[in-house]
Amino acid sequence: MYIDQGTRSDPLKRRVRRQTPLEVREEALAFIDQFYREVAPDQDAERLRRRREVAGLLRRHGHYDHTPEELAYGARLAWRNSARCIGRLLWKSLEVVDCRHVTETDEIAACILEHVTRANSEARTPSIISIFAPIRNKVAPAYVESAQILQFAGYIQEAGGVIGDPANVEMTRTAISLGWRPPASPGHFDVLPIIIRDQAGRRLLYEMPPSSYRMIDITHPTVEAIGALGLRWYATPIISDMILSIGGVDYPCAPFNGFYMATEIASRNLTDVARYDRLAEVARALDLDPADPLWRDVALTELNRAVLHSFTAAGVSIIDHHTASEQFVTFVEKEHTARRPTSADWSWIVPPQASAGCAVFHLSMKDLRRVPNFYRSRASDGMNLEPFVWRHEHRPRLARLDRWRRRLMSWIRRRYAG
Ligand code: ARG
Repeated sequence: MYIDQGTRSDPLKRRVRRQTPLEVREEALAFIDQFYREVAPDQDAERLRRRREVAGLLRRHGHYDHTPEELAYGARLAWRNSARCIGRLLWKSLEVVDCRHVTETDEIAACILEHVTRANSEARTPSIISIFAPIRNKVAPAYVESAQILQFAGYIQEAGGVIGDPANVEMTRTAISLGWRPPASPGHFDVLPIIIRDQAGRRLLYEMPPSSYRMIDITHPTVEAIGALGLRWYATPIISDMILSIGGVDYPCAPFNGFYMATEIASRNLTDVARYDRLAEVARALDLDPADPLWRDVALTELNRAVLHSFTAAGVSIIDHHTASEQFVTFVEKEHTARRPTSADWSWIVPPQASAGCAVFHLSMKDLRRVPNFYRSRASDGMNLEPFVWRHEHRPRLARLDRWRRRLMSWIRRRYAG
């Protein structure tokens, strides 16, 4: 563990949504309504009691605490509303670990270690979220600054070029400045420590012991030369830089994991020019003809095959993009049956591989920006998130008016709040 001085300018402050007390109240009550509508539709008296309670708490203290049930269901709703995620058929299975009482960085790191260990130890990767303390009356709790709990270091070479993941060059520099010592001979797949920022703004480093996670060596079922490239990836992605927003309460420290779709590794991380950029190497290993303009397509497909094969052989959950695409269509159908529109961002849902060959390519999609949800920053994906208000279902004119009101509010915020 290493520590730095601490600063008073907390980058989190620039990321969280700014909301008026009225907006918080509206989101809170809309969430309570949704919770009861979906979880306990027959308990109307209880719903009204809870609404009054929440409104009272907000009026007196500017904050309310979710019950464990509300927290768990809220997190699942946040996943269900995540417009960019193709894997949402599983939204109900999200396991919620309530860590709201954990506020010290050492303890946070210990809980995260437990999360990493569990996500990596079971045959079928469970989807887990660990939720730490929320922002209360604008006071930020400790939170994780790293984008993911497991990620690879990237080192700029003096001669030019990068060893490791170019996406993490900045993070690597920061870790080193905070006292992290990279391995004696830096490699392409060195796992970075995580950075946790405490309440006073100090940044602390924590390393996840290698025994807590799994690394998968990428090999191809028939082409040995692919295995010889020495490509690897970690088994489970654990996103840690998104703010979970439920009923007007923001949880800036809520790392969650799913399992990989092979294209994420094979068609993006290992092959994007701005990432590992290994496609030409893969093509050489496959002995492809560089004069064939389709060499990239073949290489991408075979690298996907290799990733799927390696994860499956290691007994780690993984999904191919065609199956994921079908599952997403099933999700949309199920939502439709439940009389709920699905929020989706086409440019994220459609896989980077065989796009029109996947069913999702042919669906029309709309990002409804619903809360509960996850977001990174109010300046980008946190912009214009809004609650689903039931009465609008029955009064479209009211909905239109409300939409204009929100647009005006958001314009004013952008214009004057800086
Ligand atoms: N695309 C990111 C990565 O390659 C992970 C995003 C989350 N993915 C997931 N399957 N849950 O590391």
